[in-house]
Amino acid sequence: MLTVRSLSTEYAGQKGTVVRAADDVSFEVPQGKFFTLLGPSGCGKTTTLRSIAGLEKPTGGEIRVGDRTVFSAAQGIFVAPNRRNFGMVFQSYAIWPHMNVFQNVAFPLEVGRRRFSQAEKADRVMRVLHAVALDHLAERDATRLSGGQQQRLALARALVMEPDLLLLDEPLSNLDLKLRERMRFELKRIQRELGITTIYVTHDQGEALALSHEIAVMNAGRIVQRGGPRDIYERPKSRFVADFIGSTNFVEGAVLAREADPHHWRVSTPIGELRVVCHEDLGRGEALTVSIRPEDLELTEAPVDGADGRNALSGTVDQKVFLGEYVDFQVKIGETILLARAHPSLRTPIGNPINVRIDPEKCIALPEDEPRRQAA
Ligand SMILES: Nc1ncnc2c1ncn2[C@@H]1O[C@H](COP(=O)(O)OP(=O)(O)OP(=O)(O)O)[C@@H](O)[C@H]1O
Ligand SMILES: [Mg+2]
Repeated sequence: MLTVRSLSTEYAGQKGTVVRAADDVSFEVPQGKFFTLLGPSGCGKTTTLRSIAGLEKPTGGEIRVGDRTVFSAAQGIFVAPNRRNFGMVFQSYAIWPHMNVFQNVAFPLEVGRRRFSQAEKADRVMRVLHAVALDHLAERDATRLSGGQQQRLALARALVMEPDLLLLDEPLSNLDLKLRERMRFELKRIQRELGITTIYVTHDQGEALALSHEIAVMNAGRIVQRGGPRDIYERPKSRFVADFIGSTNFVEGAVLAREADPHHWRVSTPIGELRVVCHEDLGRGEALTVSIRPEDLELTEAPVDGADGRNALSGTVDQKVFLGEYVDFQVKIGETILLARAHPSLRTPIGNPINVRIDPEKCIALPEDEPRRQAA
């Protein structure tokens, strides 16, 4: 279990100013879980990771692994990075070009404080090479590996010391799209098989959703929402999170009335009255933003009504883009354009009428006083 409590890390900015790059960051990661810090460039992900690693000295807070405190501002504890027993892979991972695969992985064992016998060393190296599926390439020069293989080699090197914690900072960012997607599966498999507690940093929401047990979305140095991938995607608590995780439509509205169903509200919007979901209490007339994912707008040429409790709207096809597996429609309702993702079998031409059905559960109301986007 990793515990990070009220962590703050500052840098000296320009002209004597102070940049608080990690601001009161708190989270726990249970043993064996995969935890991701996700957010836009400059939000403080790397700073938080480097603080956990001991490569930055935080100005406040506490970091514990199990019952071992590696940093505490209050108690004046700072354990040096090489004594924390954490494995790390950074964005610009470096393999040693003058060594073969085996030697690359064996190197940390040779420079570490603990001495290993030749047999012990060979056993450990071959075990991690097997885990990352490189054992058959042990003798190959490290430079004669593909990008994905080099990536796995960097991972093997981080794993060979059997770290208590694995810290990964955008480790897949140097790879092309196809390889990145394949490495995602590999990484997930390796992490699951070894059961190693992992902190992963990325600005790629797809990667975060695919890999994580839990995600913390960061903005301007702070964690703005934490939860499972589905939770974060389906129940964003702010406009910032809804916008950052996937694409979405925002519709401004005002509360009309509470519905009989729990957490359901009737809202007036420029596209008509909508039934929406909100788990907080709302006041009559209160302004809010409704977030609706493109895949949750169900398009049909057949007539729609609200008899089944779903929202029923009518518009026209303004634009459409064929993307193979699906078609993106821009549907114009009044003066509002909504993005809808539809099956390619829907062939309604541009300019024709189109009807829309939306499940109220997929209309997420975000109260106005939630934190708005701050980062540039
Ligand atoms: N060594 C430094 N000195 C001063 N400011 C820094 C330093 N490193 C980072 N910062 C600032 O701290 C903030 C957080 O940076 P950080 O590298 O943690 O962001 P990040 O979320 O990892 O971004 P990216 O996705 O671009 O890697 C930014 O405003 C950055 O400019
Ligand atoms: Mg970074």
